[in-house]
Amino acid sequence: MTKRVLHLSDLHFGRVNAPALEALCEIVLARKAELDLIVVTGDWTQRARTVEFRAAIEFVSQLSCPVVSVPGNHDVPLYDLPRRLLAPYSRYAKMQSTTISDYQDEFLSVVGLSTVNPFRVDSGHVHQTDIDRTHAFFSKAAPNALKIIACHHPLFDPREMRWLRPEYRAKRLLDTGADVVLSGHSHVQWVQQSDELGRAILHISAGTSISSRLREEVNGFHVIELETEVSKRPGVLVKTYDLTKTGFLERDRPSQRFTF
Ligand SMILES: [Fe+2]
Ligand SMILES: [Fe+2]
Repeated sequence: MTKRVLHLSDLHFGRVNAPALEALCEIVLARKAELDLIVVTGDWTQRARTVEFRAAIEFVSQLSCPVVSVPGNHDVPLYDLPRRLLAPYSRYAKMQSTTISDYQDEFLSVVGLSTVNPFRVDSGHVHQTDIDRTHAFFSKAAPNALKIIACHHPLFDPREMRWLRPEYRAKRLLDTGADVVLSGHSHVQWVQQSDELGRAILHISAGTSISSRLREEVNGFHVIELETEVSKRPGVLVKTYDLTKTGFLERDRPSQRFTF
């Protein structure tokens, strides 16, 4: 049996590339019966405005499978300092009406964490409470389930741009038994398996799926296919999609298959 997880990130409602939004809705709605889960790794909005979250909720309301959501640094207000420091998630909380923060089934254990630090504009932060929560969550996972951390800031970056602090806590978070980390923030798509902790950990960074805030590449996302068998750990196939003149198309390269 194959399970499919759609990984979107950095939609930035408020700075949307309209053709990309249209193309994303088209492909997601056409293939919604094939999708088991959607994970969105933060930066739903450009400036955490109510109207932007309303657009994000309207987008989610069209989807028919569970949506795991985490906040990004753009989902807390930038210029409204009292709100930023005293109630940073008060507007992001509206997303919880249509999304979930964690997901668990026989084959998947997905924990969503906030790596946002309201006291800093850009860089992320790992909280000890989230390390404890991840340990507790993964301890309830099915024996062969793939353990996935979803967070906005990358826990590993092949270009050595480590935005997540402090680094020792990022390592402790990976040491909870995570097999896969889904992240965003860089607006660049990359997929890399590392063995930093002496075992295989797959890092998947999604670019910006629909925003006009592009860096180095076009809008895109990943579809992660899990080859599931009850008595085995799932193999993972990562397919990367890019926006073209005729909509989102799978990147022309050999599929990337990973085992754990
Ligand atoms: Fe972003
Ligand atoms: Fe970000």
